[in-house]
Parts: sequence; structure tokens; C-alpha cells
Amino acid sequence: MIILDHLTRRYGTITAVNDLSLSVEDGEVLVFLGVNGAGKTTTIKLMTGLLAPCSGAVYIDGEEICPSNPSARRLFGYAPDQPELFPRLTAQETVKFSARLYGVYLTDSEATELLEAQDLARDRNRLVHGFSRGMKQRLSICLALAHKPRVLILDEPLVGLDPLGVIRMKALLATLAQTGHTIFLSTHSLSFAEESATRVAVIHHGTLCAVGDPRLIRTEANKSSSLEKVFFELTSTPDPTQADI
Ligand SMILES: Nc1ncnc2c1ncn2[C@@H]1O[C@H](COP(=O)(O)OP(=O)(O)OP(=O)(O)O)[C@@H](O)[C@H]1O
Ligand SMILES: [Mg+2]
Repeated sequence: MIILDHLTRRYGTITAVNDLSLSVEDGEVLVFLGVNGAGKTTTIKLMTGLLAPCSGAVYIDGEEICPSNPSARRLFGYAPDQPELFPRLTAQETVKFSARLYGVYLTDSEATELLEAQDLARDRNRLVHGFSRGMKQRLSICLALAHKPRVLILDEPLVGLDPLGVIRMKALLATLAQTGHTIFLSTHSLSFAEESATRVAVIHHGTLCAVGDPRLIRTEANKSSSLEKVFFELTSTPDPTQADI
């Protein structure tokens, strides 16, 4: 279970996250929606212990997540918005290395199985240096899963994926949720949220402006002017996750 307890984070005079409280139950897929600059990545950096909050706290499975508690990082897998990879390792070496950082030793076939789920098995012996943007994005998901965490935190995992990659991501999330994983993922894609989330949370100017059932969230937008504005911005531009090849 993930608990965000009255989180606030400022950068100088900018309040990027403002008194945000939210909890995510085991087995949930919580989709965190918001426009550019809404505060999604800042919230995720607070949740992963990369940033310290100005006030408030984050707990995963009862343990506080903060920069001074690095051992708590084993509790979750994290895929950042920009994949962070070693260009001179192969895909398979990358996955095995990432797992070993948490004391988990994967066999070659276990690593290949993870890569297979992201359609990267045939590229397992290639250097990451030669990978495309979308391939790096998919490899980053494998790394988040490599040490077999029960909680996954994914910052815009759809960016750079082609339509087949998006379908694969939806299937992966469904499988992970069915096997009891807890997933927190950010996106700009309202339609993805409606299809894949068990609950949606909407952030605007650092403040949580709605949390609820993905099918009801559009109806809620008619009742709140800030939510209406977010939905207008999210739906008035083409949705990259619905694009044709
Ligand atoms: N390191 C930083 N220094 C100063 N301001 C920052 C920093 N990082 C983020 N911000 C500001 O905090 C606010 C929230 O940014 P954040 O990156 O969390 O938004 P986001 O919702 O992830 O946006 P996007 O959809 O573009 O990824 C923005 O106003 C941004 O300019
Ligand atoms: Mg972001």
C-alpha cells in the first residue's frame, strides 16, 4: 500500500506539490493525470525518495520513503520519465545488473522472460547504446520489474511507445494488477486512464483536484472549473496513445 500524507514540495517560490494526500491500495492501478508542469514528476520523485518533501511524508508498505532511507527502495520498482541506462551494457546485462543492486540474482532465462514481455528478447545481446527511444522506454520497464517488487511507480511510461507498445503496456498492467501488484503511473492520456486505471487522481498546479472511478471522472469535470480546464487541455490535443502507425 502507498500512502502520500500531506505532501508539500516547493522549488524556491514555486509550490510544485501542495498538501497532497492520497492512498493506493494493494492491487490497484492508480493513474495520475495532469498537464505539463502540474506536479506529477515532483510527486513521483518524492515517492521514490529522490527528493525530500518540505512537509508531509510517503509510506510504502508501512516504511517511510525519503532520501535518508535508501534501503526502502527495494520495496518498489521505478521507471523515470527519462530512462537512465548504461549505454555499454547489453539489454540482458542491464536487467541482471539492476536486479543485483537489490540482491536479486536473475538467471539468463529469467532476464530473457522479462525482456520477452517487452518484445526485447531478440535484442537481448545488443548494446543499449544502439536502442531507439521506445526500446529504451520498454527496457526501463524491465528494470523496474527486475528485482520483483510488489509496487511499481512509472513516470509517463507511454512516452515514446508505438501503438503496439501501448497495447503491450496495457496488457502488462492488467497482468501485474491481477497478480497483486500495486501500480502508480503518471500520464497525460485520459483515454489510457479510462481503460487501464482502477482509480484516477488528477493534479493541477500541485493540488489534487479529483480522485475517483475512471468512468465517472469526466462527469465530475462538469462540476469543477479547474478539473474542466485540465480535461479541456488533455482532450484538445491528439492523444499519442490512440495514434495509428
Ligand atoms: N528542479 C526544479 N527547479 C525548479 N522548478 C522545478 C524543478 N522541477 C520542477 N519544477 C517546477 O515544478 C512544477 C511541477 O513540475 P513537474 O516536473 O513536477 O510537472 P509534471 O506534471 O511532471 O510535468 P510534465 O507533464 O511536463 O512532465 C513546474 O512548475 C516546474 O517548472
Ligand atoms: Mg513529468
